[in-house]
Amino acid sequence: MNLVPAKMQMSPTEFKQLRDFIYAKSGIYFNESKQYFLENRLSRRVQDLNLKAFSDYVSILQSARGLEELKKLFVEITTNETSFWRNPPQIEAFQNTVLPDAAKLARERGQTRLRIWSAACSSGEEPYTLALVVQDLKDTVLKGLTVEILGTDISEKVLAQAQDGIYGSYTLRNLTPQQLQKHFQSLGGDLFQVKPELQRLVQLKNFNLVDYNGYRMLGNFDVIFCRNVLIYFDDTVKASVLKGFHGQLHPKAYLMVGHSESIHAYNIGFELLHFSKAMGYRKK
Ligand SMILES: C[S@@+](CC[C@H](N)C(=O)[O-])C[C@H]1O[C@@H](n2cnc3c(N)ncnc32)[C@H](O)[C@@H]1O
Repeated sequence: MNLVPAKMQMSPTEFKQLRDFIYAKSGIYFNESKQYFLENRLSRRVQDLNLKAFSDYVSILQSARGLEELKKLFVEITTNETSFWRNPPQIEAFQNTVLPDAAKLARERGQTRLRIWSAACSSGEEPYTLALVVQDLKDTVLKGLTVEILGTDISEKVLAQAQDGIYGSYTLRNLTPQQLQKHFQSLGGDLFQVKPELQRLVQLKNFNLVDYNGYRMLGNFDVIFCRNVLIYFDDTVKASVLKGFHGQLHPKAYLMVGHSESIHAYNIGFELLHFSKAMGYRKK
């Protein structure tokens, strides 16, 4: 039997210590109203480590073994909600406008590779959605181009799920039966696995978006998807992340953010694009 641990109480000082630590390491900012969230998410971890208080947990995070514990902390505190074909108008804009134009620009630059980054990819639904579109267009719009899709996240747990590529029907609900049939293998019951040709298009990697010195190592991109993660960051982090994306995008390359995430206030050289029922940005 899986016993639910009793929720532990966090003092205001412990909350501030944890909040500041999490912000420094991940850019995720929890305001005072989120104390209950941290208590809920971290009580089990603190009890598993046989600790009496959250302050002991902060000490561990700051100690020599802190780096290993940090990975576990990221698993606990991140919100990983996602699904295939999420925000359909935006995926359709990618399929009908962004990808064809990115392919054209890539050819004009003499590139033979087209690179797409799904930054904060969670359990893989977003990069595999992009892979599905790419696979469908490989002999037409993308003919002659090798496409690489990089999916990154800070949670090792979701990256492992993405690596397995096995999904239940709920997260697949936006796909048509034809898409399901073409790109997935049924494992029986409610489970489906992405076919190897999609898995081959997607490379997965642990990358922390506040690792500003690490962006250059990822190389240049023709399209970046960064959806539903900027909302967890404050203005300073948002501005720095967008600067990082800007640096890695080819001229006129595309940035797609979540539909409720305007980057207007931190705009450092992107033009806003209006698609049918969706928006996106392009490097100026
Ligand atoms: C709500 S999910 C969004 C998934 C996908 N982009 C989508 O829109 O469906 C947010 C993801 O951001 C990741 N994340 C949060 N902070 C991050 C950071 N500093 N660096 C990289 N990923 C981060 C979380 O682990 C989580 O998987």
